[in-house]
Amino acid sequence: MDVYQAVSSRRAVRAFTDEPVPREVLERVLSHAVRAPSGSNLQPWNTYALIGAPLAELKKRTAERVAAGDPGDEREYQMYPPELKSPYRERRLAAAEQRCAALGIPRQDKRARAEAVAANWDCFGAPAALFCYIDRDLGPAQWADIGMYLQTIMLLLRAEGLHSCPQMAWSVYRETVAEVVSPPDGFILFCGMSIGFEDTSANHARIERAPLAETVTFLDG
Ligand SMILES: Cc1cc2nc3c(=O)[nH]c(=O)nc-3n(C[C@H](O)[C@H](O)[C@H](O)COP(=O)(O)O)c2cc1C
Repeated sequence: MDVYQAVSSRRAVRAFTDEPVPREVLERVLSHAVRAPSGSNLQPWNTYALIGAPLAELKKRTAERVAAGDPGDEREYQMYPPELKSPYRERRLAAAEQRCAALGIPRQDKRARAEAVAANWDCFGAPAALFCYIDRDLGPAQWADIGMYLQTIMLLLRAEGLHSCPQMAWSVYRETVAEVVSPPDGFILFCGMSIGFEDTSANHARIERAPLAETVTFLDG
C-alpha cells in the first residue's frame, strides 16, 4: 500500500470484528510512528496500548458508568468552542448528518444517537486501543505534534490491514482510563484510539471534505 492509498483508505471506522490485533503488530506500528516530527524533537506523546484483559476491564468499568447515566468527569480541555462559528458549525452538522444517514438513524431520534455515541466507550467492538496523554505544561504546538503522531499511527495501521477511530470521547471518562493505565501526575488524556479489523457488514459513511478552494490558496506566477 502506498502513502496515497493509506491516506485515502483511512477513515474513522466505528464497527470492528473481534479478531485480535497481535501485540507485535502494534509494537511495529508504534515503533515506526515515533518517526513523526515534533517541534525541537520534544516527542510530547505518552501512549498506553491496551489489548486483552486491561482493555476488557476498561470497557466494563466505563459501561457501568454509561449505564448509570454518569455524565463523565470534569473536562480537562475544551473539545470545541461553545459557539462554533461558520463554516465549522456547518461542517460539523454535515458530518453528523452523513454519519446518521449511514447508520440509518433519523436526526430526531435522540436515543439512537445517544446509543451511537455510547459505542465509543466499547471502542466500537475493537480488540485494541491506544490512549495518548500530554504533559499539562506543554502548549498548543505540542498538541499539534501529537496530531501528527496520531495520524502517522493511523496510516501505518492501514499498511497492516487495520483500521482505527481516533476518540476524544474517552476524555469524558478520563478518570476510569486513568484507573486502568495509571498515567504520571500532571498528564492530560488527549485522545483514545480504537484499533482493529473493520466489520465490513456495517454501513459506513465516507465523510465529505470541503472543496479544495475553501481551504487551500495557491499563489503562483
Ligand atoms: C482528534 C480527533 C478526535 C476524534 N474523536 C472522535 C470521537 O470521540 N468519536 C468518534 O466517533 N470520532 C471521533 N473522531 C473522528 C472524526 O469524527 C472523523 O475523523 C471526521 O468526522 C472525518 O471522518 P473520517 O475520518 O471518517 O474521514 C475524532 C477525530 C479526531 C481527529
